[in-house]
Amino acid sequence: MTSERRTFAIISHPDAGKTTLTEKLLLTGGAIHLAGEVKARGQARRARSDWMKIEQQRGISVTSSVMTFERDGITFNLLDTPGHEDFSEDTYRTLTAVDSAIMVLDAAAGIEPQTLKLFEVCRLRSVPIITFINKIDREGRDAFELLDEIAEKLALDTSPMSWPVGMGGLFEGVFNFETKQLHLPEGDGKEYRGKTVQTDGAEDPKLAEYLSADGVERVAEEGLLAREGYPEFDFEAYRNGDLTPVYFGSALKEFGVEAIIDAIAKYAPAPRPQPAEGGEIAPDREEVTGFIFKVQANMDPNHRDRIAFMRQVSGTFKRGMKLTPSGLGKPIAVHSPIMFFAQDREIADTAEPGDIIGIPNHGTLRVGDTLSEKNEVRFTGLPNFAPEILRRVQLKDPTKTKQLRKALDDLSEEGVIQVFYPELGAQFIVGVVGQLQLEVLISRMEAEYKVEAGLEASPFATARWVKGPDAAIKQFESFNRANLARDRDGDLVFMAKSPWDVNYQAENNPELTFSATKER
Ligand code: G4P
Repeated sequence: MTSERRTFAIISHPDAGKTTLTEKLLLTGGAIHLAGEVKARGQARRARSDWMKIEQQRGISVTSSVMTFERDGITFNLLDTPGHEDFSEDTYRTLTAVDSAIMVLDAAAGIEPQTLKLFEVCRLRSVPIITFINKIDREGRDAFELLDEIAEKLALDTSPMSWPVGMGGLFEGVFNFETKQLHLPEGDGKEYRGKTVQTDGAEDPKLAEYLSADGVERVAEEGLLAREGYPEFDFEAYRNGDLTPVYFGSALKEFGVEAIIDAIAKYAPAPRPQPAEGGEIAPDREEVTGFIFKVQANMDPNHRDRIAFMRQVSGTFKRGMKLTPSGLGKPIAVHSPIMFFAQDREIADTAEPGDIIGIPNHGTLRVGDTLSEKNEVRFTGLPNFAPEILRRVQLKDPTKTKQLRKALDDLSEEGVIQVFYPELGAQFIVGVVGQLQLEVLISRMEAEYKVEAGLEASPFATARWVKGPDAAIKQFESFNRANLARDRDGDLVFMAKSPWDVNYQAENNPELTFSATKER
């Protein structure tokens, strides 16, 4: 029997507590045994592979990884998304590979810019969201105010599932409306170590034995207001992405962590059908299908190997199976797939829909590729985003053009950058969604390809993929050659000097489409 799957990601603004919550989820899920291991292991891995110097310098995680744990017969696949402010397309793509998300907010900060951006990506795909309001062991904002802010800024109904009995110095525990349990702190650290009181509800007189008079009042009165003032939890509305259940807690002190796991198990969707050309592909399709949402090159600088991360959509994958990548057209045998268990990478023998497997390869697999047994399915919805920052690449040693092109091709394949080869002129142009990607580019070109390059301003502000009938394209090309380039796939791109430029061309070329995203 195959166990149920929950494939999810955590979205948050830097510092809200994603790493801490991840660690506690894995700990509670039994995947790791010591607190602090997520960071420590991350650092060791980075030191070992030492290629992403920026990660170390900034202490941030630029790449995503996959963590798996099991609990009560359910396999949880947690996909890590980079949490820093200048995120890349990598983050977006990781969110295309999950079925639901946990949104972590800092109780003192509420909704922050990065949370908002990531939330919008989830909304695009109707990814259901469970909210965790973290750090209630510290002074935070009023709980009602936080619920209202989520509702207003995200246009999302909020349904409180638990309630903080005070915050900061007044913190006395967490009351769970669903289970009617009161969770209490213990010891000097005021941590949750399992001390739970089962009550008959928020008005149970028993609460007075465990809480101060203020605390009792908080649970009874605020609790009542919270339940009456906000919509009741509605499963369908949550699944449609219209309502978020909200849990209060402290990842650091382990309050609310179990409630989050239970909520994912109980409410979060099992692997969902995925959009494909000609209709959705359901997980119960017999044939093995999946799509590549991420490629990571040079995990080991001594070996030019890459790992392509495939989100499995249907079928039961078995080791050694032959799958055909849509980009290649001929089958490859997947002999050594990698599963990302929390402790270590492990060789997988079988995988189910919702699982992520890593497929080592030498550059044959690319982000957006579909893999399937029969080569009939094409998944859609893994977009390239129009870059917001464009730079010309200036090579320090002109004899290294070949290496430069290799580096740019590889890194664009990984989704670190996009590369544009102008129709006129020799200087390549790179495009990114966030500034940090440029630093990653320079550092990796030097470390991995021994190419020293600088970046200089380009006259372009954004890019649009151009499509239309041949004759119209030809005419457009003849007038705009200086502003045209080809992307890595050879597709035509209009390099625009301003958004106004895009509108102008669109108005004057009604037969053409100028697209800000490109689906592969
Ligand atoms: P991130 O991955 O979202 O960036 O956040 P991370 O978990 O690294 O947490 C950011 C900081 O907030 C850390 O402190 C962490 O210990 C703290 N933190 C996380 N959850 C809670 C919580 O529930 N309560 C309180 N009081 N603090 C919390 P730091 O001092 O920046 O890092 P560290 O040196 O402690 O690791």
